[in-house]
Amino acid sequence: MTTVTETLSPADEAGQEIFDRLIAEDSRIEPTDWMPAAYRRTLTRQISQHAHSEIIGMQPEANWITRAPSLKRKAILIAKVQDEAGHGLYLYSAAETLRTGRDKLVEQLLDGSAKYSSIFNYPARTWADIGAIGWLVDGAAIANQVPLCRASYAPYGRAMVRVCKEESFHQRQGWEILFELANGTPAQKQMAQEAINRFYGPALQMFGPPDDDSPNSQQSMAWKIKRFSNDELRQRFVDMIVPQAEALGLHFEDPDLKWNEERGHYDFGELDWTEFKSVVRGEGPCNTQRMQRRRQAFDDGAWVREAAAAYAEKYHSADSQLIA
Ligand SMILES: [Fe+2]
Ligand SMILES: [Fe+2]
Repeated sequence: MTTVTETLSPADEAGQEIFDRLIAEDSRIEPTDWMPAAYRRTLTRQISQHAHSEIIGMQPEANWITRAPSLKRKAILIAKVQDEAGHGLYLYSAAETLRTGRDKLVEQLLDGSAKYSSIFNYPARTWADIGAIGWLVDGAAIANQVPLCRASYAPYGRAMVRVCKEESFHQRQGWEILFELANGTPAQKQMAQEAINRFYGPALQMFGPPDDDSPNSQQSMAWKIKRFSNDELRQRFVDMIVPQAEALGLHFEDPDLKWNEERGHYDFGELDWTEFKSVVRGEGPCNTQRMQRRRQAFDDGAWVREAAAAYAEKYHSADSQLIA
């Protein structure tokens, strides 16, 4: 985190004072309000990376649309993947209110300078993985995003309200896929169990590194962008999914996972942070494939952007003629 070291002019000092008061009162910052440059930078990075994650996150699931086991499953999965595209669009719009254009944000994704959630660098190997992704990955996203509905930056919080409603449907459809498999043939139940084994660790890593290794968190919490620490959210998520796994008749392969009466929470094992860091560095199973696909989709869509720009130009000049 860059600490606020900018020398402030008198106008900025007044702005800072109002900003500090709004944050202290738990009010919200709107795009036209004065805000510290570091707050703007942090939010631009966070919201755009969130948008990139929604867009890249469409890939592992879109891969199963043609292979969904029934028409009903296909329709549900298409709706879910479309929702993720919508989330990306709301979030790019929210990020743009911080005065960085979408072109620039997309460029940062395509040139590799912006990150997206590392979970999407894992493949969806079986149909049960679609269930595990919905239940665990969208579930972790909800745990992360519900508190973001109260983020101090108003456009981000507002975008999150609708996103969270849709995420609840995503989680539910994932759980239901696993429920059917877990109550199906022994082979189907095994497929469900194996999918959970693959996604348990990476899903818990979605909350980010442990608190003592997460230097940005404190500033984000002081600015009330983030309301709970990574470890708090991770604990809340584990407490939620353990009984859900029991209801499925499945389990997590974590020998340290057990109820701690004293803490009133589940204890769980150390996560593989070396693996996490290597996936973030670009060495996960699908990083290269995800980026290639996104660049290809961007190139393939060039004619749409050109047509939209030409239309806007024409519409704009027709409009000015009318005014004239
Ligand atoms: Fe989403
Ligand atoms: Fe989702």
